[in-house]
Amino acid sequence: MTTFPTDFLWGAATAGHQIEGNNVNSDWWARELTMPGMEPSGDAVDSYHRYQEDISLLADAGLTSYRFSLEWSRIEPVEGRFSRAELAHYRRMIDFCLSRGVVPVVTLQHFTTPQWFAERGGWLAPDAGDLFVRYATEATRILEGVEWVVTMNEPNMQAAIMTAMRRMQQSPSGQWQSPTVEGDGEQQSHGEFLTYADPEIGRLFTSIHHRARDIVRERTGAKVGWTIAAGALTAAPGGEEKLLEIRYGKEDVYWEGARGDDFVGVQAYSTQQVDARGLVPHPPHPDNTLVGTAFRPDALQMAVRHAWDITGGVPILVTENGIATADDTQRIRYTDEALRGLHAAMADSIDVRGYLHWSLLDNFEWGHWEPTFGLIAVDRETFARSPKPSLAWLGQVASRGALPTAVSA
Ligand code: FCB
Repeated sequence: MTTFPTDFLWGAATAGHQIEGNNVNSDWWARELTMPGMEPSGDAVDSYHRYQEDISLLADAGLTSYRFSLEWSRIEPVEGRFSRAELAHYRRMIDFCLSRGVVPVVTLQHFTTPQWFAERGGWLAPDAGDLFVRYATEATRILEGVEWVVTMNEPNMQAAIMTAMRRMQQSPSGQWQSPTVEGDGEQQSHGEFLTYADPEIGRLFTSIHHRARDIVRERTGAKVGWTIAAGALTAAPGGEEKLLEIRYGKEDVYWEGARGDDFVGVQAYSTQQVDARGLVPHPPHPDNTLVGTAFRPDALQMAVRHAWDITGGVPILVTENGIATADDTQRIRYTDEALRGLHAAMADSIDVRGYLHWSLLDNFEWGHWEPTFGLIAVDRETFARSPKPSLAWLGQVASRGALPTAVSA
C-alpha cells in the first residue's frame, strides 16, 4: 500500500499575480501592457475577492494546506509606504485558512516586484537586499500562527527572466517571446528549463534570501526556506560535463543556498536533456503538455533526490508539481505517477513533509491564459469556479493518506 505519514501536508499552490487580478503596481502589470505577444492579467480570476470560496473548495475536497503569496506591490505600492489595509487583507486570508483547518504556506515574493523596485534596477540595484528585507520585516507583522514561510519563489527562474528582459531590451527588434528564454539559439516554450546560468546571480539571491530568512526566523515561529525550479536534467551521451556546468549555475548554487534553511521547496514539472552543446530542446510529441514539455511525472522524484543530495539533507516540501493540460484524466495520471515516485524517494529515507499541487486554479501563466494547470476551472467572464475531477481525486488521496491501487478518473 502506498501510504504517506499522517502529518504529511496535502495541498495546492497559487501566486498572487496569477490569480488576484488588477495587480496594477507590479512590474508584471507594466510589462503586460507593453510587451508584444503577452496577454494581460487583467482581473486574473479575482481571487483577491474570492479567496474564501477558493480556500473552501480546497478544504471541502479534503486538502489540508494552501500555498499562496503576498503581493509586495500591494503592500508597498510606493517606496517606503506600507499599506496596513493590504497587510490586513493577507492576515484575513491566513485567518480564514486557519479557521478551515488549512495550513497556510506563505510566499513573500513570487516573481513580481513593485514597479518602483524594478525601475530602480530590480534585484541588481545595490540596495535591493535592504529593500526586500525591509518589506519582509513589515510582512512578519501578519505571520503569527504561520508555520511555513517561503522568502522567494524560484530565484533561479527569476534570474532567467531578468536576463531575458535585459536581452530583449538590448535586441534591435525588442521582441519579447515568453518569460522563459532561449536554449542555444533555439526558442523554447514556456515551462522548459532555461540556459541562463551565472552562479554569481545565484550567490546574490542567496545572500538576500539569507538576510530575509534570518529576519523571519527572528520575528516569527515559522520554518523558513525558498523554492527552486528543478530541471531534473539528465546527460545525453557526451553531455556529462556540460550537464554539471549548466546545472551548477541554474540550480545547484541555489540548492546550496538552502543549506541551513528549515526546509527547501522543490518545484518540478518535467525533465530535460543536456548534450555537449547544452540543453536539448524537447521535440514535439503527442503526449507533450500545453507548454511543450515532455510528460514526465518521474521528474518529481528525480528533483527531490537531487535536492536532498545537494542540500545535504534539508527537509523537503514539494511546493509545486503539476501539468498544463486540457485533459483532466491526464492530470490525474500525471499526479498519481508523480506521487508514486515521491513515495519511492521517501522510502529511501528522504525527508519530505508535504505535497502542494500546482495549481489550485486555472490562472494567468505569466503572459498566457492557455496553459491550464488548475484543479479548478474558472470562467473568466463570471469568475464561476468549477472543480475538476482531479480536485476530488487529490482530496481523496489526502483524506486516506494513500494512493489508490488503480488510477481512477
Ligand atoms: C513555476 C512558477 C509558477 C507557475 C508554474 C507553472 O515556474 O513558480 O508560478 O508559473 O511554474
